[in-house]
Amino acid sequence: MAEKFFDSFQIGGLEIKNRLVASAMFEYAAADGKITETFLNHYSKLAQGGWGLIIGGMQAVSASGAVAPIMVNTAYPDYVADMKKVVAEVHRHDAKIFVQLQHAGTRTFPTEGYDKFSVDDATPKQLETVIKNFGRAAANCKAAGVDGVQIHAAHGFLINSFLSPSTNHRVDNFGGTIENRALLLYKIYDSIRASVGENFIVGVKFPFSDLIEPNITPEESLSVLKELERRGLDFAEISSGLVMDESKFSFTPRIGKNEAPFLASATLAAENLKIPVVSVCGYRTPDFVEKVLTETKIAAVSFGRPTVREPNLANRWRVDKSRAKCISCNKCRDSVSDGEITCQVEKILRAKK
Ligand SMILES: Cc1cc2nc3c(=O)[nH]c(=O)nc-3n(C[C@H](O)[C@H](O)[C@H](O)COP(=O)(O)O)c2cc1C
Repeated sequence: MAEKFFDSFQIGGLEIKNRLVASAMFEYAAADGKITETFLNHYSKLAQGGWGLIIGGMQAVSASGAVAPIMVNTAYPDYVADMKKVVAEVHRHDAKIFVQLQHAGTRTFPTEGYDKFSVDDATPKQLETVIKNFGRAAANCKAAGVDGVQIHAAHGFLINSFLSPSTNHRVDNFGGTIENRALLLYKIYDSIRASVGENFIVGVKFPFSDLIEPNITPEESLSVLKELERRGLDFAEISSGLVMDESKFSFTPRIGKNEAPFLASATLAAENLKIPVVSVCGYRTPDFVEKVLTETKIAAVSFGRPTVREPNLANRWRVDKSRAKCISCNKCRDSVSDGEITCQVEKILRAKK
């Protein structure tokens, strides 16, 4: 019998051919914020690798919201025309593609003059601009024909820093209670929805836990996700963690024998929401993925680092069910000078041949 992870599923009205999702991975391949040939080929490789849905690496809602110029900026003049080519290539290989929208908060590359604002310093006017820019970015994605967008609310960037009690010390209506800490996210969601209309897919990558104290509570996380669902959110991918290192507090921990450190949070979210929930982090073996999909209400699982080591992992599991080769060393984040995110272990092995 074929595995459930090769069964199709739906997000909104969109049919996705299987439940193996390529999670957003910053591809380091833009030039001055613009889509390049390397960027297009990167997504072609993933689409040919058999993933039902590819969530593209974070793209900035404005030049000033980018981590660096090697990150795509959705606001450059030819963005729609260039992204259309990427979408056509992905669709040609029968995969779907979402764009992940991001403002990097304090980690921005300064160009437009309102950058590097932290949660505690951001003025209401600056926030209004960011909120508007998310709406504009989503409209550009829709115009480019992408299948949906995902709000990046996780991993310590701007929206996460508002949600977390460990980083948000504001005393106005954006700080304090969870309703206030989530206000920026709600306003961003509403801005996107207003600009793309009801039938376009809008999801979120959500930080269910900060993994450090003071921490957002499970009750708070569920309340935010339920409120987003009430407003019309189409799917939620459940992550956790404010920092990126190899520790257990990280959103990219080293994965040992125990796969999926955020599974309990995703299970809880799936039990409490009607929309599809995607679980990310640490999935490395097909048996475990299958167990999660058959024993919980989780709709799909997503893969980050393994897609860098093996862009064809989804197809590979049709014929060879051995563990993903990724060893979760996080060295792929050191590949900026390669012009594209690259598995450094694979690179060394290839050089030795
Ligand atoms: C180099 C690198 C880049 C990443 N870029 C993104 C990103 O753009 N957006 C995002 O939401 N997560 C990003 N992540 C996190 C992954 O999507 C994923 O949540 C995480 O790596 C855990 O899943 P895994 O164990 O399958 O890798 C990145 C992780 C790494 C190591």
